[in-house]
Amino acid sequence: MKIILIGFMGAGKTAVAKKLSKKLDLPAVEMDDLILKKSGRKSINEIFARDTELHFRELEIEVAKNLKKQDNRIISTGGGIVMNKIIIDYLKAGSGKIIFLKSSFSEIKKRVGNSKKRPLFKNRKTALELFNFRQQLYRKYADFVVRTDNKSIDAVADEIVNYLLIKKI
Ligand code: S3P
Repeated sequence: MKIILIGFMGAGKTAVAKKLSKKLDLPAVEMDDLILKKSGRKSINEIFARDTELHFRELEIEVAKNLKKQDNRIISTGGGIVMNKIIIDYLKAGSGKIIFLKSSFSEIKKRVGNSKKRPLFKNRKTALELFNFRQQLYRKYADFVVRTDNKSIDAVADEIVNYLLIKKI
């Protein structure tokens, strides 16, 4: 079983992946962590600032390609993977199921707060534009959509587990 969590920054992908990892007894992997390791930089911000976003996107493709060979994982993705169809194809290869964690922008603003960790969230106006543009892509690639507003991490993870049970995945 390979579960791929997609959604905008702050949708809760990392936290839900950790919770699912416990519930399903599968390892959780974080694409941003793997990218960071490959980059030799200290932070995602540093990759964007020193190597450019394009380089970050190239690393994202490499990491997705490596994950293609791995099964039995919960994969927490970066919010921008839907911009590259090839990443979706690598991640879905085999038995991959894509779960879209759908949050409203107001909820996301509350969660991300004034975090300076996310290079593409520094400007709220452009972040909102990105959010609006990407919604259609998240929906398009998703096998299952979970709304996360006003729900606990546990409740979101349970909805995903129920979906997997119903679909006999
Ligand atoms: C990005 C989202 C980030 C990270 C990078 C780019 C994006 O991950 O991959 O800053 O393009 O939305 P999170 O979604 O985990 O914040």
